[in-house]
Amino acid sequence: MARLTVNGQAHDLAIDDDTPLLWALRDALGLTGTKYGCGRGLCGACAVHVDGEVVWSCTVAVGAVAGKPIVTIEGLSPGGVPDAIQQAWIDDSVVQCGYCHPGIVMAVAGLLAANPRPTDADIAAAVPNICRCGTYPRIRCAIEKLAKR
Ligand code: FES
Ligand code: FES
Repeated sequence: MARLTVNGQAHDLAIDDDTPLLWALRDALGLTGTKYGCGRGLCGACAVHVDGEVVWSCTVAVGAVAGKPIVTIEGLSPGGVPDAIQQAWIDDSVVQCGYCHPGIVMAVAGLLAANPRPTDADIAAAVPNICRCGTYPRIRCAIEKLAKR
């Protein structure tokens, strides 16, 4: 049994403590905005926030995050209203297939919360996510616009 607090709601889940957080979110809670890419901590598709930090959820077990506040991509837009980052993504048509972007948006949200005026090096370090469609230039452009606001 694990108690997870996700997007402000507590859930008691009948799952093993060593279950990756990614699968607790997707399979037990139905929060499928968090994506499975590599399952090995390499791509960032599964990024969420735990205690305000960006975490790749395939790499952490639920037992390690029990009791800590967890935010998923769904938690950025309560009521379905896009947050500033999601709106910037919409305005600039950043996505192509879109699969990688929930993780990228979570990484960018973590970056801008900690560092509203990131340098190119800051962006590269904080958003190492892989996009197979190659939307990197549009991602960078949207982050730079957000940083200038
Ligand atoms: S699915 Fe977690 S880093 Fe790729
Ligand atoms: S938009 Fe397709 S993988 Fe990134």
